[in-house]
Amino acid sequence: MDNLLDIRGLTTQFASPEGVVTAVDGVDLSVIRGRALALVGESGSGKSVTCASIVGLPPAGAKIVAGEVRFNGVDLMKERPAALSALRGRRIGMVLQNAMTALNPVLTVGAQLAETFRRHRGVRRRAELRRLSIEALEAVGISGAAERLGSYPFQLSGGMRQRVCIAIAVACEPELLLCDEPTTALDVTVQLQILQLLRNLQRQRAMTVIFVTHDLHVASRFCDDVAVMYAGRIVERGPIGRVFAEPAHPYTEGLLRATPSLETINGRLATLPGQVPAGPATPPGCRFAERCSEAHEQCRSAYPDWFGWDDAGARSAACWNVPRRVHLHASGTGPESARASRRTPA
Ligand SMILES: Nc1ncnc2c1ncn2[C@@H]1O[C@H](COP(=O)(O)OP(=O)(O)OP(=O)(O)O)[C@@H](O)[C@H]1O
Ligand SMILES: [Mg+2]
Repeated sequence: MDNLLDIRGLTTQFASPEGVVTAVDGVDLSVIRGRALALVGESGSGKSVTCASIVGLPPAGAKIVAGEVRFNGVDLMKERPAALSALRGRRIGMVLQNAMTALNPVLTVGAQLAETFRRHRGVRRRAELRRLSIEALEAVGISGAAERLGSYPFQLSGGMRQRVCIAIAVACEPELLLCDEPTTALDVTVQLQILQLLRNLQRQRAMTVIFVTHDLHVASRFCDDVAVMYAGRIVERGPIGRVFAEPAHPYTEGLLRATPSLETINGRLATLPGQVPAGPATPPGCRFAERCSEAHEQCRSAYPDWFGWDDAGARSAACWNVPRRVHLHASGTGPESARASRRTPA
């Protein structure tokens, strides 16, 4: 597989009065070039801290303490801050949840776009800056782009503001776009329009995307692959259609069961009892064990290995019960279960 991003052992910690909290706990994750990967999991599982750590911007109070983030083969964790900063906005774009705070409230849309082109592409001529800014707004479906250049963020609707953020994020044609809950602040119809826009841009420009969401419907609509995160770790990953149709990890299955009317769950709806563990304690075993109806002694004493299966190891999950569960799910498609083997994720 041609991976744009290869993350190994990424670990980010917060210092708190109760002790050190490991919000991202040795994350292993690869993102295939040109595809959209959904990063899903309950609130507090570490999705946002992972995203921020990838670009070397952990939240205030947090520190990246270990790991590799290989972007086109180069470890970003070893880059100088100036080099990383130059990469952000040019080769890695970011779209965050709240467009109002992402934009500068005292600068016009035109000024903010022009700044992007000045900083990352070195464009100086005013006429050229204006032309590129209009093009950028048109690319995200903003009509009357020339007039919009003079608008301030507060003069735009929520959906329009998020379009402007996307225009800025993709202005320099980044290879990787990180989207952290980009549509959760919007109403359902606008959310769909923005998702469609992101998907179109991703396909037209063959961009690689990491799309953080806790909404599994949104994930399955927008993404090719999925990585399921629980308590700071990735627990399952693979092509989204196959993972959602036959979840291998009990946590993925629980999330799907707790999601209303996703076709794959045949209308069964349940709640996922318990909560994502938070705080300094890190027990030795699987962190989902205390909520898992299938947990046994080994689950509580040792963190599970990765098990990979499917044609080219496209699917993998970290759960001691995977060999048995995959066999159950895959009954009738024999070879899939036969290839289950221990390996790190693709
Ligand atoms: N400022 C902070 N101080 C201490 N711990 C923090 C802080 N921010 C986050 N954390 C810890 O990091 C964990 C992961 O937080 P993160 O924001 O990445 O979760 P998330 O998966 O993005 O959740 P959500 O879906 O709500 O956005 C939290 O459970 C918490 O333990
Ligand atoms: Mg978050």
